[in-house]
Amino acid sequence: MTSSPDSTDTFRWNLTSSISKSALLFLAILSLFVVFRFNTSDVILPADRLQTLNSGWADEKRCADCHEQAETFWETGHANTLQRVDDVDSKELLEKLDIFLSDQPSNTTKVKNHDGQFVASYEHDGVESQVRLDWCLGSGTHARTWVGTLMDSRGATDLLEFRWSWYHGIDGFDITPGQPLKADPGYFGGLGVLFDAPKTRKCLGCHASYLPIKDGHIDQHHIKPGVTCQRCHGPRKAHVESDGDVRDYSWRNLDQMESVNRCAECHRRAEEQKPSEISPQNSAITRFQPVGLVQSPCFKNSKMTCLTCHDPHLSPQAQDSMGLWQCLQCHDELNELHTGCSAGHLDQCFSCHMPKVKMGESPVAFRDHWIRIRRQSEQQP
Ligand code: HEC
Ligand code: HEC
Ligand code: HEC
Ligand code: HEC
Ligand code: HEC
Ligand code: HEC
Ligand code: HEC
Repeated sequence: MTSSPDSTDTFRWNLTSSISKSALLFLAILSLFVVFRFNTSDVILPADRLQTLNSGWADEKRCADCHEQAETFWETGHANTLQRVDDVDSKELLEKLDIFLSDQPSNTTKVKNHDGQFVASYEHDGVESQVRLDWCLGSGTHARTWVGTLMDSRGATDLLEFRWSWYHGIDGFDITPGQPLKADPGYFGGLGVLFDAPKTRKCLGCHASYLPIKDGHIDQHHIKPGVTCQRCHGPRKAHVESDGDVRDYSWRNLDQMESVNRCAECHRRAEEQKPSEISPQNSAITRFQPVGLVQSPCFKNSKMTCLTCHDPHLSPQAQDSMGLWQCLQCHDELNELHTGCSAGHLDQCFSCHMPKVKMGESPVAFRDHWIRIRRQSEQQP
């Protein structure tokens, strides 16, 4: 009747015997709410294009036999953006998180390791609610957020986004971005926020390469975590079996905007943002690099794409991401087509023209991809 953890696994939705009648009523209302939300039709993202392709997948360990890209790729954020909760990094952080939580005054949220299953619990008014955490999102470059999966009354997979996240910037824990600073006292209050099935599908869909779904139910055992080779290059079984004879150069044939929009399936296309929100004053859009980049005079007056500065097979650290080379591809004094810096600067281009911008109160900052001339007050390292 109610949302319960995925029945394909052994863990059961667990309420302690002290549960009160009002809590049961609340649960009943909650389940109606979940069913109601379900009637809205699934929103299909362009990002679903490859996720739902089942056939023709090759073992990605094979790619390294013939391609040097596969030697460096596994260090990138893309490769590591989704992990099972008991993977080494996630496990270590959850153990630290429990110690952190126990030091918080009047906190009743805990995370315990029960024989390798991490269970988050929260107590309010004598009612204890629990959820098992299943996945850790984010490679840790900026942050990591944990989620637990639940099964709703129609058998579809919902998701509980845990209230606490780890942030690289502070090497510590804080409230998950987008969640209220003060927990609602309700059922999920101290545990986090519940997402319905369509939102669950989107959430995992941008962090996984293959997400097997039937009638809203996600087969979690067969998820291919991370944004890996075949998420971008399509299924490659025929390619591998033919020793590379069967090829598909589809990305190379895209025009400038199509190429940016392929990356923007996950990083956000400019059309997905309300026009009124696209302004230099709105720092929230710096999270969505394509939105800013396509406003830049650089982009509009050249063939620039994301690939001009990013090699998807190298981590930013591995490709001298803060070098001069990115800008000098065009703004070189020897390049007659383009001007150099009219303020006379010869280095540190990023600090003035693509500075890091902090995301509100959260300890996360993003580099602003709207390349432009800024007033002194906008400049920062
Ligand atoms: C399927 C979704 C998806 C697609 C398609 C995608 N990205 Fe990403 N990208 C992500 C996610 C998720 C992250 C966050 C990784 C993390 O957890 O640190 C990310 C992170 C990045 C980073 C930070 C790199 C790092 O290693 O920390 C860069 C740069 C990037 N993407 C560029 C691109 C470019 C360029 C393309 C197109 C060629 C692209 N992305 C396509 C989902 C995607
Ligand atoms: C439309 C695609 C999309 C959806 C949906 C999505 N993400 Fe992401 N997520 C991204 C991309 C792209 C990045 C990389 C952002 C960057 O580094 O600029 C990212 C980064 C992250 C990070 C790393 C921290 C950060 O800000 O870089 C976490 C944690 C995360 N996402 C969690 C979630 C959770 C939890 C959900 C669902 C409730 C979710 N994401 C839904 C695309 C998506
Ligand atoms: C985030 C998306 C993304 C991921 C993940 C990714 N690639 Fe690529 N790859 C690209 C793009 C974009 C290009 C350039 C396309 C072009 O110009 O034709 C490319 C180009 C290539 C090329 C052709 C290079 C050339 O000479 O044109 C090979 C080979 C390749 N990738 C292999 C891999 C392998 C192997 C993996 C996994 C280990 C991988 N890629 C992961 C996006 C990705
Ligand atoms: C037995 C060798 C072999 C294996 C294994 C192999 N490839 Fe290739 N691949 C080639 C050859 C040969 C080419 C053509 C020459 C080139 O572009 O490097 C190629 C080209 C490519 C290209 C560019 C052309 C295109 O079709 O898009 C991509 C992308 C690519 N391979 C991806 C992969 C991925 C991903 C894997 C692992 C799932 C993989 N390859 C495994 C031999 C191989
Ligand atoms: C003119 C060069 C340039 C172009 C074009 C460019 N980027 Fe970046 N990008 C950078 C630099 C520099 C960084 C910072 C890397 C670092 O801090 O190590 C960065 C960082 C990122 C990050 C990590 C988030 C952060 O702020 O640290 C993501 C994600 C990203 N870019 C995605 C994209 C996407 C998607 C596109 C295409 C829409 C794109 N970039 C186009 C230069 C560029
Ligand atoms: C692919 C080519 C290309 C690359 C790479 C590039 N730009 Fe540009 N940029 C242009 C073009 C074209 C213009 C329009 C004026 C011109 O022709 O020089 C421009 C204009 C500008 C302007 C003037 C913007 C305004 O508000 O009027 C600035 C500032 C700038 N670029 C900085 C940079 C910096 C910093 C980098 C590296 C992060 C960079 N560009 C990388 C092509 C590029
Ligand atoms: C200390 C801050 C700072 C640094 C560092 C810096 N710039 Fe600038 N840049 C400016 C300012 C301010 C202007 C506008 C000057 C003016 O009013 O003409 C400008 C203007 C420009 C323009 C526009 C030129 C035109 O004629 O429209 C380009 C292109 C540019 N910079 C590129 C670069 C590149 C490439 C680098 C790195 C080699 C760089 N800048 C480093 C502050 C900086």
